[in-house]
Amino acid sequence: MAENLIINGGNKQERYETLLPQLQALTAGETDAVANMANVAAALKQTFGFFWVGFYVVKEETLVLAPFQGPLACTRIRYGKGVCGTAWKEARTIVVPDVEQFPGHIACSSDSRSEIVVPILRKGTVVAVLDIDSDHLNAFDETDAEYLEKLCAGLPI
Ligand code: SME
Repeated sequence: MAENLIINGGNKQERYETLLPQLQALTAGETDAVANMANVAAALKQTFGFFWVGFYVVKEETLVLAPFQGPLACTRIRYGKGVCGTAWKEARTIVVPDVEQFPGHIACSSDSRSEIVVPILRKGTVVAVLDIDSDHLNAFDETDAEYLEKLCAGLPI
């Protein structure tokens, strides 16, 4: 089943259009949050070749590293800190075209150039964030925000 999630053709929008229903079907059959986050991270990494894809979950007033694909990452991020902590605090998606221009950006890897962070809300509260890093500048736009928000909204976690 998993190999069917690798999508190589089409532009970005077409890839999201193909990927999302498959991921929704896959995760709908599983109630374990870690398992679902793990497969979503793997599918996004394989489909788009992003540098780093992963989740941080809110635990004890901190974001704690959860399933991811890519190089080792920071394990804890405080409320309001970095792109992730800001997306948590402001409960909104943040697109960063150039991480060097984002005040307080946390550089888990010096190869990261641009980033998108999508908060995951349940009953109006942020419970986790999806964080994606690229090693290219300007890798993310409104298309990524739209589809990743849709994905996160329906994710069983
Ligand atoms: N750059 C993030 C930290 C997490 S890593 O990119 C995986 C931030 O500023 O919150």
